[in-house]
Amino acid sequence: MDWGMQNRISQIIKPKTGRTVMLAVDHGYFLGPTSHLENAKKTIEPLIEYADALMPARGVLRADVDPGTSTPIVLRVSGGNSIVGEDLTREGITTSVEDALRLNVAAVAMSIYVGSKYEHQTLMNLGNLVNECERYGMPVVAVTAVGKDMVRDARYLALCCRIAAELGAKIVKTYYTDDFQTVVEGCPVPIVVAGGKQMNTEMDVFELVHSAISEGAVGVDMGRNIWQNEYPVAMIKAVRAIVHENFTPRKAMDLYNSEKEK
Ligand code: R5P
Repeated sequence: MDWGMQNRISQIIKPKTGRTVMLAVDHGYFLGPTSHLENAKKTIEPLIEYADALMPARGVLRADVDPGTSTPIVLRVSGGNSIVGEDLTREGITTSVEDALRLNVAAVAMSIYVGSKYEHQTLMNLGNLVNECERYGMPVVAVTAVGKDMVRDARYLALCCRIAAELGAKIVKTYYTDDFQTVVEGCPVPIVVAGGKQMNTEMDVFELVHSAISEGAVGVDMGRNIWQNEYPVAMIKAVRAIVHENFTPRKAMDLYNSEKEK
């Protein structure tokens, strides 16, 4: 791997622990002003210093993220769909690699929809994006997005992750599932897990993160379960402790409880 590519990946996956806490704030690209992300600047500001990487789309990055930040950016570059549109899986590449370079990002991210009507289109998006990004040493993070009626089981996610890696993704973002080890074993590149919709309790989140890490994920790319929490800073600190310091869910809960008093 060339120096630039490796350096960019090392900005995201911290060499000291081999792990990462990515903060996802890209939801607006198809969900609009999602709850707690209506004013993205307000949400991002207190959290960015605790994130190993921030994942916005171009609009929020330009408008709401301080260019003086030292937190690396993973830029969402796919879209062209919406929650009320005809088919959520119909994505294209919306942001050029040239603009990603101008924005000085550490990686670009895009979604693939395996098994959907637009599977071929989104997989070709990935292949073509990787072809272009390789020229500049820019890593591509592939998000294994799940269409409305698709089951998030290990067999399906292993298929998606392996395809993403085979097409050249340097990091794959997927969901945690039972038998997650199968997903990790079949994927030759690092995997991060998304959080999904806000869970019932903090403990549920900590257990998910702990299981994902114990079963081989290098970290999380998490959004709603952090910034929709009543105490988002306490939440990200607790998630970090699991990811980078191997805290148990119980210890993470204690940390969350003490941090939320501050
Ligand atoms: C969804 O497609 C977005 O890419 C989010 O970045 C992703 O779902 C992670 O955020 P959350 O933890 O809120 O699911």
